[in-house]
Amino acid sequence: MNKEPKRYLITAALPYANGPVHIGHLAGCYLPADIYTRYLKALGKDVLFICGSDEHGVPITIKAKKEGITPQQVVDKYDGIMKNAFKDFGINFTYYGRTSSKTHHDTAQASFKKLYDKGVFKEETTKQYYDEEANQFLADRYITGTCPRCGNPGAYGDQCEKCGTALSPTDLINPKSALSGAVPVLRETKNWFLPMGEIQKTEQFKHYIKRFEDWKPNIKGQCNSWLTEGLQSRAMTRDLDWGVPVPVDGAEGKVLYVWFDAPIGYISATEEFLQTDKGRGDLAKWWMDDDTALIHFIGKDNIVFHAIIFPMMLMTHGDYILPLNVPANEFLNLEGDKISTSRNWAVWLHEYLVDFEGRQDELRYVLTAIAPETKDSEFTWKDYQTRINSELVNIFGNFVNRVLVLCDKYYDGLMPTLTNELTDEKLLNAKQACLDQVANSLHSMNQNLGAVKLREAQADFINIARAGNKFLADTEPWKLIKSDAESVKQILFVALQICAKLAIAAEPFLPHTATKLKGMLNANDLQWSNLFNENILGSNHQLGKAEILYRQVEDEEIQKQLNRLEEIKKANKLEPKPTETLHEVKADISYEDFDKLDLRVGKILEAIKVPKADKLLKLTVDLGFEKRTILSGIAEYYKPEELLGKLVTVVANLAPRKIRGIESQGMLLMAGNDFGKLYSVGPDLEIEVGSVVK
Ligand code: 2FM
Ligand code: ZN
Repeated sequence: MNKEPKRYLITAALPYANGPVHIGHLAGCYLPADIYTRYLKALGKDVLFICGSDEHGVPITIKAKKEGITPQQVVDKYDGIMKNAFKDFGINFTYYGRTSSKTHHDTAQASFKKLYDKGVFKEETTKQYYDEEANQFLADRYITGTCPRCGNPGAYGDQCEKCGTALSPTDLINPKSALSGAVPVLRETKNWFLPMGEIQKTEQFKHYIKRFEDWKPNIKGQCNSWLTEGLQSRAMTRDLDWGVPVPVDGAEGKVLYVWFDAPIGYISATEEFLQTDKGRGDLAKWWMDDDTALIHFIGKDNIVFHAIIFPMMLMTHGDYILPLNVPANEFLNLEGDKISTSRNWAVWLHEYLVDFEGRQDELRYVLTAIAPETKDSEFTWKDYQTRINSELVNIFGNFVNRVLVLCDKYYDGLMPTLTNELTDEKLLNAKQACLDQVANSLHSMNQNLGAVKLREAQADFINIARAGNKFLADTEPWKLIKSDAESVKQILFVALQICAKLAIAAEPFLPHTATKLKGMLNANDLQWSNLFNENILGSNHQLGKAEILYRQVEDEEIQKQLNRLEEIKKANKLEPKPTETLHEVKADISYEDFDKLDLRVGKILEAIKVPKADKLLKLTVDLGFEKRTILSGIAEYYKPEELLGKLVTVVANLAPRKIRGIESQGMLLMAGNDFGKLYSVGPDLEIEVGSVVK
């Protein structure tokens, strides 16, 4: 779509209704989607922001089993909890649906039926594990056994959580049903497959993937890697009893694959919303008109489903538009470890609110400042404290407070009336520098918001306050008031305009603050369109009452959170990391020997498994001056898609050698221990590819 879209349909991944919401969820897609939607709305665009609970799939049934309740009870419980948490944090969905709703079941079944009638699916009989005691086929997660790779006796049918290897159920040694403990047997079953390999070859799909060119490198890279590897057919039906029943004859006891039904949830939730608000048009307007920009906000584990599989479903269905962009985020870690619901290693939103009541915007701020937009990032409580105290309190809050308190004191809260321009050169220069900085930051913020670079956009926003703060520090109106009251009017007039700009610009990032600040300025109707006016508030405008925008985060508050995490660590009995065996240091080499090595920073552009070689990945590595093919024996440790975009250290002058008929033109530096772990040794900073490592 080259022209300006007429409307925007923003979606955020439907979260599984199997637990409360944590900061990883928020940072992954709900907060960015909300900020972007608020921005579009502020611009006056026609926007729907759609989400809802994903109430099917194995995650729900596992939770039900764990809690000893039915899947329906699970989803009923968590749907409400999740909805409230989103609301509390200002995630302003136009509509939040549920995939257990009748509209959803009808829509998902109709979509399946349409593809079925068009002959899109391939019917296939395969062998799946079956539990003869529980009388049911077993989803991958319901089969446990010994990991063939590391010997962990509690590996799951889809993954060993100890060594991270992706598995299929038949890989497990001594498989057992997690339902009954019985040894499962392989039994034939018929399912309907989406022939993704065939669809990949169609002109329509080839045309669609041209869109990837404009997408974020991490998403484009992951998709291209999937496509290069070649897509396999995937079953769109499953032998389970929880889900949307498959609406065709001969499919009794089967339900739609959760990844078939869940994304259709975006369509059914839109439909439900439109039934309540006819003013916003019909489904065709939103889902079948090329003038709609469909944008899916998701976390990186959902990329393939939104960028490839769902578009294939939409395309073969024929009626619907395809996503224009899929701005996926990477993962957020917590205090050095992966966020994990099962290990309770998370900051839960409802718990946060108990300890930090009314401080939702503070969390929004920090999560946007560290948003994992291009790579995984890390939340630490110390960093939370530092950012709030040094940026929100000391810069933004402090600036606004000083301005309003001074205006109250000098002018009884009335905007000063200006008579003449500043005459003092130092003051004039300070004013000009401040206005330039504000204008630049506003411009940059606008650009970054439009490009969904929200982390940078928020940094631009805080720079506006920073410019205002500096202006006050440079001009010191509280000192000047005695000698030059006229100039103080000028200074505070300018400063109040900046406060007004901050109140407007805060809306996407910090909506609660925006409302509060507008109240303090007694200007509730400030609009985004005012943002670029030099003067927003007029002389003699009556200001409201100054309040504290943010309060300091105290050391004790942080310590309490750290103690909580420490307790969780203990409860989890996290094994201490094994100390690595010390290898003897090799014989000394001369500097000249070392200097022969040409080590460079490279970026992995592509990663593909080498057929019939379990350990090898074929990588395309950008060295800045050229791209190299490098074979690396790391396939056991990294999935190809995890490597895309990663910076690595490359031995660039290692003589090429042929491995399995492929010439490898260099080597990656890796650190290994004796416990089957391997870590890439790469720069952790954004550094130019091709840089010399020395
Ligand atoms: O990963 C998840 O949490 C899934 N429930 C996301 C579904 S997104 C969409 F397809 F609905
Ligand atoms: Zn393992």
